This record gives sequence, C-alpha cells and structure tokens, in this order.
Amino acid sequence: MKSTLITGIGELTTNDPELGTLHDAAVVMTGNRISWVGSANNPPDADTMVDAEGRAALPGWVDSHTHLVFAGDRTSEFIARTAGKPYTAGGINETVRATRAASDEQLQHNLIRHLAEATAQGTTCLETKTGYGLTVHDELRAAKTAALVDEVTFLGAHVVPPGWDADDYTHHVCTDMLDAVAAHVDWCDVFCERGAFDADQTTAVLRAARERGLGLRVHGNQLGPGPGVQVAVAEQAASVDHCTHLDSADIDALANSDTVATLLPACDACTHQPLPNARALLDAGATVALATNCNPGSSYTTSMAYCVATAVLQMGMSVAEAVRAATWGGARALRRETGDGAVGVVRPGARADLHLLDAPSAAWLAYRPGVPLTYAVWREGHDLVPPPGGRQDR
Ligand code: NIG
Repeated sequence: MKSTLITGIGELTTNDPELGTLHDAAVVMTGNRISWVGSANNPPDADTMVDAEGRAALPGWVDSHTHLVFAGDRTSEFIARTAGKPYTAGGINETVRATRAASDEQLQHNLIRHLAEATAQGTTCLETKTGYGLTVHDELRAAKTAALVDEVTFLGAHVVPPGWDADDYTHHVCTDMLDAVAAHVDWCDVFCERGAFDADQTTAVLRAARERGLGLRVHGNQLGPGPGVQVAVAEQAASVDHCTHLDSADIDALANSDTVATLLPACDACTHQPLPNARALLDAGATVALATNCNPGSSYTTSMAYCVATAVLQMGMSVAEAVRAATWGGARALRRETGDGAVGVVRPGARADLHLLDAPSAAWLAYRPGVPLTYAVWREGHDLVPPPGGRQDR
C-alpha cells in the first residue's frame, strides 16, 4: 500500500484527546488510513513526502447537513429577502418543481459540481438529503442519485406538497415512501416547523423510520420556537439541526442527551434570522456541530470556512470550539467519530482525510475571514487538492 508522509506541520489539530494539538508535527497516511501521527523530528519513512513548511493542518471538514440533490436556483427569492420579504418553508416547492423536471443526468451533474466545490475548500465527508422530490418515484431517484456521498438522508417529510392533506401525506411518507427508499439511505429527517410538520407528524415519521433500521435526524427550531428539539431528544435522534430559536428547556434537553445540536449559521444569515446561541449550548454541556446546510433556498454555500469564521466572530465560539464543531462535531452528528475509519479526527486508524491550510494556525480561518486558505486536501489518502509545492518520491 502506498504511504505518504506529511511533515513540517506547524500546528496540527487532531481532535484526539491524547494527541491534542501538536506543533512541528508529521502525519503518515498508508492506503486510506492514517497510520502514524507524531513529531516532525523523527517520522517513519514513506513512499512520498510532502513538506508543509510550517502550515497548519486539521481533519477535513465534516459537513453533516446539506441538500444537494436539486435543480434550479432561487436567486429571485434571495433578492426579495434582501428587500425585507421573510423566508418561509413554502419556497421549497419551487425547487421541488425544478427537481422533478430535471433529468437524472442533470441531478447527478449538479450534485457532482457541488461536491467538487466543497472538496476544493477542504470538505472530505459530507451528508446530503432527498427532499425535493416528494413523490415515491422522485424521492427514490434522489436517494439513488445521492448514493455517491458518505451519508444519505431521506427527507420525504420536507414540506407537504400541493394537493395533499398533511396527515394523509405523513401517512404516505411513513408507509409507501419509506418502504421504497429505506434500503438506499442511512438516515431519516423531518422538517418540524410551522408550515411543515408538527410534533405528532414528526414523531410518526421518525418512528416509522426507526422500525426500518434508519438513524434519525430532525430540522427543528429554525424559524421560531417549536417542538423540534424536544421531539428529537425524545426520539433519540443523532442530531437536531438549526437550533436557532431555543429556550432554556431546549438547551437543558440537548445538554442531557446524546443528540447533537447542529448549527447552520450561513442559513441564519441568508434568511435574516438571529444566529444561534452557541455559547449557551456549549456552556450547558451540549455537543455542537457546524454545517453549511447548502441548498438553493436558505443557504447556498458549501463553505465550512465561512461557518467557522461566523461562529468565531459572531457566535461567541473560540477558534478551537468552532474548528472542532466543524470536524469532530459533524462526525459525531453522523456517528462516524469513533472506530476504524473514523472521520473528523487525525489519529492512527482514522480515515486519511486531512486539510492543509495556507496559514500557520487554524486561527487564521477567523482572523482572515473570506480569504480562501485551503492549500491541500487529502481524502482517503488521495490528494484531491494536491499541494502546490509538490511532493517528493523517496
Ligand atoms: O434546512 N428547513 C428546511 N429545509 C432547508 C431549506 C430548503 C429550501 O428552502 O429549499 C433548510 O433550510
């Protein structure tokens, strides 16, 4: 198996409690795994060597919340919001129309284009959802299209499509749709919000999904206070995403559960919502993840660096907390942070995913907001963004 030594790392964020943050460090990747982490003074030999020349390295971003199986864009809706029009769940139907009308090839091409965009910025593990099909045929098509990403989520309960009664549609999701898609997805998600699905409907979908062996996730408390967090915690969902409008009972519930609070600051910025209270969640002991929520309606960005910078500059998170939330936190939200092939961590046995910054410290992600700092990216040991300084064969 081919091995690569990356040495001369000025600052290495590992997210491993024993390794911590290392200085003047080196990493060896063998095949698709990290095989060694330690000091740059005496690293083992490898087939190829890359000198990081003092740059900072961290695990690849883990973007645990995206909606990338879609067609079209919603530029005019975005412009209307800049003139004061509020964001509502109903805009989703616009993308549903465009997605149903698109060919399989168009959907796949769009997904691959956005994946390449994310990879170029350091994202090495990504979740994406169905949810712009909303018929058995179109949800199944979306699930099959999404199969090339790390984690696939069924979001048939995104909104109630036109012409349906909400309870009838919920029943349809719980039966025909889940039966059709369950074998093709890892997770089931529900948009629990006014204008989408209420607490009872959300619970029904989550329970039907659990019976079919799927992990659970919830969109909750995005546009106002609501039952999403409490339902997610009660149903032991892996993650509840958005968490923009939380009361103290929601924060306590998250702090006393294994449900990750996944914050989506780009979405809040683009929909003119307040930013989530990350500080209160962290101080209470909740696990926090940061993700892009890339979708054409509420958050059309693949930039995890933007989310990290916003979390540090406007949400009271330290650089270390924000970087951890965008790597280990996302991995935890996807239950991929432990074991052989873990992501969001740099340690022997983890997946060989590494993000090298053109910066001496991860602090530059917030210190130099908006500046593209990705220098090189490895995913499963392959340099998908090769280091411009090259590598030496040995
Ligand atoms: O996470 N909240 C629901 N779903 C997406 C929005 C999708 C859209 O507007 O197209 C979200 O923000």
